[in-house]
Amino acid sequence: MRLVLLGPPGSGKGTQAALLKDRLNIVHISTGDLLRAAVAAGTELGKIAKATMDAGELVSDELVLQLLEDRLNEPDVANGYILDGYPRNLAQAQALDELLARLNQNIDHALALIVDEEQIVARLAQRAAEQGRSDDSESVVRHRLHVYAEQTAPVVNYYEDKGILTAIDGMGSIDEINQRLCDAI
Ligand code: AP5
Repeated sequence: MRLVLLGPPGSGKGTQAALLKDRLNIVHISTGDLLRAAVAAGTELGKIAKATMDAGELVSDELVLQLLEDRLNEPDVANGYILDGYPRNLAQAQALDELLARLNQNIDHALALIVDEEQIVARLAQRAAEQGRSDDSESVVRHRLHVYAEQTAPVVNYYEDKGILTAIDGMGSIDEINQRLCDAI
């Protein structure tokens, strides 16, 4: 099974993908995690991406597509995967379709988590206090939400037009939301 998990920053994509991957025995692919790993490793790509990520902007489509393509060519994706944080704009959605056509694959379901903005700000403020992620300051979170509304929200309509989108209430406990996702799948 191949899934796309959509939703604004802090909507719970990473949390839910980690649970779904175990439940469905598939791989969790987060472009944010791949980028943070590149930053931590000090690769050329990581050096280019860091300032963009810290500002809450999107890293260039070409760089992220290359990371994703490399990841999708690893053998552990054979049983399926959850994409978390990709695609992030319409150009990436189209690039993903082209990549999947070359790999003779398709997306089975796109799931969009719906969460109130103030709940998002509260969740990410707590994470900032606990983990100190460099893009979780309130001003950068507000900017990430703006980038989401402008660039990523149209991707939800893209999958709706394909007839594979389910919107999921992302408010409540982690277990409740996970059950809603499983019911939708
Ligand atoms: P990315 O890592 O994808 O971050 P994001 O989309 O902003 O998402 P987050 O990780 O903040 O939130 P999430 O929805 O995964 O929620 P989580 O489960 O963590 O991207 C970071 C940056 O990388 C981007 O800004 C961009 O620069 C770059 N990037 C990444 N992909 C890119 C792409 N495709 N193209 C270009 N650039 C790209 O939960 C958040 C918090 O809430 C956690 O602390 C969690 O414990 C808590 N929580 C979760 N669920 C609940 C709940 N139900 N109740 C209470 N707390 C909860």
